Amino acid sequence: MTESFSNLIINWYQNHKRDLPWRNTSDPYKIWLSEIILQQTRVIQGLPYYEKFIAKYPNVFDLANAPEDEVMRLWQGLGYYSRARNLHACAKMVVEQFDGKFPNTYSELLKLKGVGKYTAAAIASFAFGEATPVVDGNVFRVLARYFNITDDIAQPKTFKKFFEVSEDLIPEKHPADYNQAMMELGATVCSPKSPNCSECPIAEGCEARINNIQAELPVKKKK
Ligand code: ADE
Repeated sequence: MTESFSNLIINWYQNHKRDLPWRNTSDPYKIWLSEIILQQTRVIQGLPYYEKFIAKYPNVFDLANAPEDEVMRLWQGLGYYSRARNLHACAKMVVEQFDGKFPNTYSELLKLKGVGKYTAAAIASFAFGEATPVVDGNVFRVLARYFNITDDIAQPKTFKKFFEVSEDLIPEKHPADYNQAMMELGATVCSPKSPNCSECPIAEGCEARINNIQAELPVKKKK
């Protein structure tokens, strides 16, 4: 079962993925930069910023050595400016404390400024092939619907539950494709409102589709 779930979404991803520049690299700097930009930003909005940053700062040393006000100016328009300050601080940290090399494990990546669980898992899997699952709103939605998981996603402890379910699903051999596939499926097919189940590679086994309760999942109670 587990194997078919991941095979199905990975096969689907390989045929449907959008060609995005950070998907054609294993450079942790580029992957990190893209994930920070995409934290509260849609792909379509983030893409030109990613291109601008890579053109101006091709590697972590260039970014670390840039004046803060220049970095802030380049970020202008993206909002959530603490992300830009953390971006710059993190680049300095990588240069000063790690000799310019990004740490290569999930637990070490978590020590970096501005890098939370989601971003650490993304970098660890995309750049270093570590089988650590990304868990974000997209992943909550896909898994809650597929397995009919009714835990309240507004509760912090629910993260652990979804992380553990994901750890059983992520294949050791293709962790990067699995993580990208989960994000892509949540972003493009398994949408919050009117999911496109006729296009979904895992519709057949999906509890929410079978019971027509897609709109009720994931459960998110008001605090
Ligand atoms: N949103 C966050 N990370 C992403 C990625 N790697 N690809 C597409 N959208 C994303």
